[in-house]
Amino acid sequence: MADVRLFSAKPYDRHGFDTANADHGHQLTYLETRLGPDTVDLAAGAPAVCVFVNDDVSAPVLESLAANGTRCVALRCAGFNNVDLDAADRLGIAVVRVPAYSPNAVAEHTLALILTLNRRIHRAYNRVRDGNFALDGLVGFDLAGKTAGVVGTGKIGTIVARLLWHLRCRVLAVDVQQDPHLVELGVEYVDPDRLMAESDIISLNCPLTPETHHMIDAAAIDRMRDGVMIVNTGRGALIDTEAIIDGLKRGKIGSVALDVYEEEGRLFFEDRSHEIIDDDVFARLLTFHNVLITAHQAFLTREALDAIAGTTLGNISAVLGGDDCDNVVRPS
Ligand code: NAI
Repeated sequence: MADVRLFSAKPYDRHGFDTANADHGHQLTYLETRLGPDTVDLAAGAPAVCVFVNDDVSAPVLESLAANGTRCVALRCAGFNNVDLDAADRLGIAVVRVPAYSPNAVAEHTLALILTLNRRIHRAYNRVRDGNFALDGLVGFDLAGKTAGVVGTGKIGTIVARLLWHLRCRVLAVDVQQDPHLVELGVEYVDPDRLMAESDIISLNCPLTPETHHMIDAAAIDRMRDGVMIVNTGRGALIDTEAIIDGLKRGKIGSVALDVYEEEGRLFFEDRSHEIIDDDVFARLLTFHNVLITAHQAFLTREALDAIAGTTLGNISAVLGGDDCDNVVRPS
């Protein structure tokens, strides 16, 4: 049994972790606060901490963790761009993650965003509730026959590509590794420039790396079709948000759906309805009727939460027990 401190813990995390812990018997402490330089002392004495996408697992935080006896940082997510892996390695802290929990959850949310945005369901919902039954401004387009470009055909992107193909889109894809099943289906792997130039819908499903940072910038937008729909359920910094705003203002971009935002760490996962939003870029995004934003909820299904909890506790048990663990993340 180990003392495990879970940072950024929300009420919806507890059910899955309490249930999965029946198999592990760890002592779980749920902390609402984020992990960072100011809160790292809350982990003192715990051999394992569990963190989420916006916790700060930088070198100074890792140094404090190591000094206070932490040997394992368990990410309850797939991405690990918020962890300094070199520092963790140097300090002897194992970093583990959940490589796959429910790629369906994220892919289905991606599709939900595309369908909602295209058919203006978010606007129609409010209008009808307000007794406004006018249809002006709600014109969408048939997905059938359109070209959809999927950037990154890993676990999530593959499902996105399949769903779009089943909606009778022509599907283009970019990835360093081709999925033979998608090729068999009729998905065409192309170079990034061609995907940008030919797609009516572009879905970003690749990880954030130095190479993919701001892959959607002003130059990429200029290459796109007029009226393109851009959907990002990957990571916020895949997109240069200011360039997107400029493209929306010019009418070059037809619509944008985001589940992630490059400065989301200062906003998402908290109720800020009583606060003033001081992020002017985000505030500008909110003014566009053709921008649909969800606050990093693509993963949020019951199945995904249960799978995340089970894998995370399994990772912690393996690392602290000295067993092999396939989900250790090492510096590249
Ligand atoms: P994965 O590792 O299975 O697939 C990622 C794919 O992207 C791989 O096939 C890889 O070769 C490809 N890729 C890497 N660099 C690329 C580049 N420069 N251009 C095109 N493709 C490239 O990962 P998975 O599970 O499909 O997740 C993808 C991303 O989705 C994660 O890295 C994470 O950032 C994001 N995500 C978002 C969630 C949300 O709730 N919004 C939840 C889970 C993941």
